[in-house]
Amino acid sequence: MYQLDDSFWSEVRLKFPAASNGVYLNTAAVGPLANPVYDSYHSHILHMNRVGDWNYTRAIENMERTREKVAALMGAEACDIGFAPNTSHAMNLLAMMFKVSGSDNSISMPDIEFPSSLYPFRYHGYQLNLSPTINGRIDCDQLIKGVDDNNRAILASHVQFSNGFRMDLDELGARAEGLGTPFIVNATQSLGSFPIDVKKSKISALTASCHKWMGAGYGLSVVYVSKETREKTKWPLMGWLSVAQEDLFSAEDVKIKEITSAIETGVTPLSNYYALGASVDLITEIGVENIATRIQTLSTQFADRLATEGFEILSFRDQESEHSKSHNSGNILIKNEDPEKAWEILNKKGIYLSPRRGGLRVSINYFNNTSDLDQLILALKELG
Ligand SMILES: Cc1ncc(COP(=O)(O)O)c(C=O)c1O
Repeated sequence: MYQLDDSFWSEVRLKFPAASNGVYLNTAAVGPLANPVYDSYHSHILHMNRVGDWNYTRAIENMERTREKVAALMGAEACDIGFAPNTSHAMNLLAMMFKVSGSDNSISMPDIEFPSSLYPFRYHGYQLNLSPTINGRIDCDQLIKGVDDNNRAILASHVQFSNGFRMDLDELGARAEGLGTPFIVNATQSLGSFPIDVKKSKISALTASCHKWMGAGYGLSVVYVSKETREKTKWPLMGWLSVAQEDLFSAEDVKIKEITSAIETGVTPLSNYYALGASVDLITEIGVENIATRIQTLSTQFADRLATEGFEILSFRDQESEHSKSHNSGNILIKNEDPEKAWEILNKKGIYLSPRRGGLRVSINYFNNTSDLDQLILALKELG
């Protein structure tokens, strides 16, 4: 239950210097780093500068602790989690894993998916069955209609990058399971801000870039692959760290690991796990339920204000106040005739958001407050 008052959120906001240095409504593009995240990342960089990384094992152990924390955030086990450099890379891996060679392959996904979901599957020869988005709303039935005889998966973003439509993962996962088709989720716009339970939602594979709502900076994308999926597919890439016994250093023919960390073919950016571990600690400490409720409350207030002031919202918005029953998220798309120009003007005023698909995308995170939203409304009115 939501019991945290304004003073709690004011304290939390102090952990984000970027929130005092501008009106930061741009987490959907890049999330600012909280102080504990910066400190943790910096401690490893400093260590490498002052003494080198003679204690390489320490960094590996930190990566494994981070893997456990990330797994817990989505109801998974550490063995289900791997790390890729970005979501595009992860989607390429999944496209290769789910593809049936010597056959036609198709995938069903919404027509407004981010290119990281879309391009890899097209590149790997899939027919993309794109379901139409009507009035900003993505419909499960339409996605199911896109499942044909050559279907290999249904894919959807949990939260859409442009208009913020939030998919009911439990519903879509159950429908996919009913059809016996794998369910792939792009959680880049939601992990860290809305709860995810991979088992409850029957998710086969999920990936999420960590530089947005996870607030962990650049360089990592979380990849979840379920045990069942691992048993039915083959890892498409292999490197010296894809094997269980990585210190063989020999030409021996060794087997690839059966756990998702097999995708980390070689050394990955070990400093980044210090940032990611600290960001998951912060999210877990506040509680992802509390974060979701905070975002839901602020974004509802903001959408209501926009409507009162006569601005047109291109996002689908429902009237649910409970985040668990709603399709709303912190991403709201406001219609604008010249979003690039408006973006430039707002930028000069220290108001940060992004021009996207015919409008200005505002993304509201838990460190934002009503003053941020008031300042944006005022600036929008001045734009005319
Ligand atoms: C839904 C979604 N997926 C992926 C990305 C980023 O992809 P990548 O990690 O490949 O750069 C974005 C960035 O805007 C996004 O909104």
